[in-house]
Amino acid sequence: MSEDITGQSRRIDVAAAQSGIEAESIKLRTRDLNVFYGSFRAIRDITLDFPTMQISALIGSSGSGKSTLLRTLNRMHDAIPGTSVTGQVLLDDQPIYGEDVDPIMVRRRIGMVFQRPNPFEKSIFDNVAYGLRFVGKMSRTEKRDRVEQALKQAGLWKEVQDRLDSSAFSLSGGQQQRLCIARAIAVEPEVVLMDEPTSALDPIATQNVEELMRELSEKFTIIVVTHNMQQAARVSHTTAYMTMDDDKSGVVVEVGPTGRIFTNPKDPRTEDYITGRIG
Ligand SMILES: Nc1ncnc2c1ncn2[C@@H]1O[C@H](COP(=O)(O)OP(=O)(O)OP(=O)(O)O)[C@@H](O)[C@H]1O
Ligand SMILES: [Mg+2]
Repeated sequence: MSEDITGQSRRIDVAAAQSGIEAESIKLRTRDLNVFYGSFRAIRDITLDFPTMQISALIGSSGSGKSTLLRTLNRMHDAIPGTSVTGQVLLDDQPIYGEDVDPIMVRRRIGMVFQRPNPFEKSIFDNVAYGLRFVGKMSRTEKRDRVEQALKQAGLWKEVQDRLDSSAFSLSGGQQQRLCIARAIAVEPEVVLMDEPTSALDPIATQNVEELMRELSEKFTIIVVTHNMQQAARVSHTTAYMTMDDDKSGVVVEVGPTGRIFTNPKDPRTEDYITGRIG
C-alpha cells in the first residue's frame, strides 16, 4: 500500500485482490459478473472487490454500465422482466443470488440511494420509519429512537425535529436527499449503494452529502457512482473506471487506490477519461 491521499491506515489495495493476493477485509465481491437486458450484455465479466467500511467509487462514461452494476449488487433487477445475471455477487463470502436467499433480506443488508431524491408521499417520520417493519417487532419508543438516530446520522435532525409530521415533499432537494439517506440507513444496513447521489444538488448540499458519506464510512461500506471526478477524488478510497467495449458491454478497465488512479493510471483509457479527453 504505497499511496494514501486520505491519511487513513485502514485502506486496502483493491488491486491486490485483483492480482490474486487475498485482501484482508472484503465486504462485497463480484466474480465474473454479466448482466443481460434480453440478449444485450450490459456488463461483462466484472470481478471487483469492495473493501469493508471504505468508500469505493465507480466512474466512467454514460452507458458504461455503472448503474447496472450497482443495481445488481442488491438484486434490484429482480423486478425487471428479461434481465438475467450470470456470475456471482458475494456478501461476506455468501452468494446473494443463491436459491434460498430472500431478496428482501439482501436489500435490508444492502441499501440504496438514488440519483434523484425519491421520498414517499408520507411524513418525514414515516419515510424514515418505512423500512423498520422488515427489521422485526419494535415498540413506539424504539421506533422513534431509530428514526431520530438515522436523521442525526444523515445530518438532518436539527432541521426537521420540529416538523416530523410534515410531508417529505415540504423539504428542499438537498434535505430530501439526506432524508432518503436517513431512510436507507435507518434499517442499519451493512452496505449503502449510492447512484450519483449529489447530481441533483447544489454545491453546498453536495458538500453536506460528501461529508456525510465520509462519516457514514466509519459504519458502513459505501459504493458510489459519480460523474464528478473531484467528488471521487475527495471522498473515495478506491476507484474503478468503467468503459464500453466494442460491443457496448460495460467493462472495468482499472481499479485501485483512488490516489493512484487519479495521479498515475496504468491504462491509457483511464488517463484519457480522467484528464477529460473522452467521456
Ligand atoms: N432496463 C433496461 N433495459 C434495457 N437496457 C438497459 C436498461 N437499463 C440500462 N440499459 C442499457 O444498459 C447499458 C448500461 O446502462 P447503465 O444505466 O447501467 O449505464 P450508466 O453507466 O449508469 O450510465 P449513466 O452514466 O448515463 O447513468 C446502456 O446501454 C443502457 O441503455
Ligand atoms: Mg447511471
